[in-house]
Amino acid sequence: MCGIFAYTGSNGKNAAKVLLDGLVSLEYRGYDSAGIFIPEAGVIKTPGAVGALRKKVPKNFKGKSGIAHLRWATHGEPTEKNAHPHWSGDKEIWVVHNGIIENWQELRAKLISKGHTFVSDSDSEIIPHLVEEHLKKHKNFEKAALAALNEIRGTFGIAMQYKGEPDKLIAARMGSPIVIGVGKNERFIASDASPILPHTKKVVFLEDGEVAILTPDKHTVLKLNATKIQREPEEIEWNAEQAQKGGHEHFMLKEILEAPLVVEDTMRGRLILNKGTSKLGGLDKVEKKLKEIDRIIIVACGTAYLAGLVGEYMIEEFAGIPVEVELASEFRYRKPVVNKRTAVLAISQSGETLDTLEAIREAKRQNALTLGIVNTVGSTITREDDSGVYNHAGPEISVASTKAFISQLVVLALMTLFLGRQRKMTAAQGKEIARELKKLPGKLKAILENEKAIETLAKKYSHHRDFLFLGRKYNYPVALEGALKLKEISYIHAEGYGAGEMKHGPLAMIDENFPTFAVAPHDSVYEKVLSAIQQVRARKGPVIALTTEGDSEVQKIADDVIYVPQTIEMLSPILNVVPLQLFAYYFAKEKGLNVDRPRNLAKSVTVE
Ligand code: M6R
Repeated sequence: MCGIFAYTGSNGKNAAKVLLDGLVSLEYRGYDSAGIFIPEAGVIKTPGAVGALRKKVPKNFKGKSGIAHLRWATHGEPTEKNAHPHWSGDKEIWVVHNGIIENWQELRAKLISKGHTFVSDSDSEIIPHLVEEHLKKHKNFEKAALAALNEIRGTFGIAMQYKGEPDKLIAARMGSPIVIGVGKNERFIASDASPILPHTKKVVFLEDGEVAILTPDKHTVLKLNATKIQREPEEIEWNAEQAQKGGHEHFMLKEILEAPLVVEDTMRGRLILNKGTSKLGGLDKVEKKLKEIDRIIIVACGTAYLAGLVGEYMIEEFAGIPVEVELASEFRYRKPVVNKRTAVLAISQSGETLDTLEAIREAKRQNALTLGIVNTVGSTITREDDSGVYNHAGPEISVASTKAFISQLVVLALMTLFLGRQRKMTAAQGKEIARELKKLPGKLKAILENEKAIETLAKKYSHHRDFLFLGRKYNYPVALEGALKLKEISYIHAEGYGAGEMKHGPLAMIDENFPTFAVAPHDSVYEKVLSAIQQVRARKGPVIALTTEGDSEVQKIADDVIYVPQTIEMLSPILNVVPLQLFAYYFAKEKGLNVDRPRNLAKSVTVE
């Protein structure tokens, strides 16, 4: 997720000032590097966020139009050369892009064969070169832009500019949001309405597959096939903060609702359906070493640790490699037995968690192969590990981790395919997992349609002070995560337990005031979880149960039931955790708490 802002005006405003001021409100979308292009003044790029960019911009950097960008790296390190805008070989076409171009390597190779040279590692850089190539043929910026946009595959929110027609901007959207601002003698393009609002409240939201051509006094909306669309601007009442949250009250809800897109982005270009495997660029260079490892130790903290527990079950079952999962804070201080045939895999959203980083350093000292699953490109863990895989989940703002957890599980499933197909997993097994992975975004959408019912449920139970979460096998870590989410943002006592372990202690707590949330999908331990629910019922404990659509048993013993679509057992946590995240969110909201910034907690724990 990056931030795009572009401006064209004929009313005397300095585009550089408009763009730099506006970028500040997009900083939540990315902050690893920034850049600005003004046709009359040139280009300035820098690592860091808007403050760093402002310092580099001289007083005489002025013009009537321009494009600007804040980057959250996906392909290529967060350096000046990878920052946007990117330009064509002849420096005539300038582009800022948010998203991931799936077929960038293929297009880049084609362009190189036509004599183009590239100066960055970014997938986005192919876009201006592609437009340049089409411009040679069409001699028309709009036609060239449309031709290029029809060639790229993946997700994009784009703003582009041609030096030959400096007052014209072209925007396009496929999966990454684009809002057009309609002012008096001025037009804007932005990733959300927040930078536009100080200038105008009139906006046009582009839909996927749409393009907009803007000049200071006019905007036209087209489909990718060039047919025109009539779309009147709407007047929005949001303030800048609401616009950043997509109209939602909290980032946490926005991030939970992003789950379907996050799963698509994490898998993009990595799943090879017809071979039943995955292609993970980061693992290519250690492919041979990975064949030789005989053990994996996953190190992580908090929610990332719980994703690791799911990963243990996946990798052991389908790749047959022994896996241990350890709290990074424990691993670094004991004397772990590790050698060069051990892979130590760090999972971290921020890539900066000190305990996880130190665990990786300890593993390196002992000659282990060190790997990472990290969301933040260029973070310390990614610079120190031997190799790794990025989540591509976009920045997570809310302290409570939700979409990052989902993307960690998807990466672990992709890694399982990769490691499994190197070992005992058959092509048929691999294909089944790949097919099911592909169906997850649609199933997540169906779960999220049930949001209101979960809100009602959370309100109903919000007076309780204690909660038990139960799950078994793949959904044991989901129960732990459900409890962690509730503790973290609601400040109530919530315990996660393996359903089979309940009778060894926690059952003693159960009475009519102590509700249980049981995760009971149709999997290989369904009956066992059902029997745990019955034990709770026998002690008069209220029960909320999550089960699979079509089930008719759970409703007979639970007070409230949430249904989720069927998937294969190893992927079920990716679906089942979402209702638990929504439950915790609405529970905390009902209590009027500061959901995005819970007391005593920080988003990134860089101290011991
Ligand atoms: O950035 P990391 O994934 O390394 O962070 C690990 C934990 O601090 C984090 O998951 C924490 O538990 C979350 N606040 C949970 O929602």
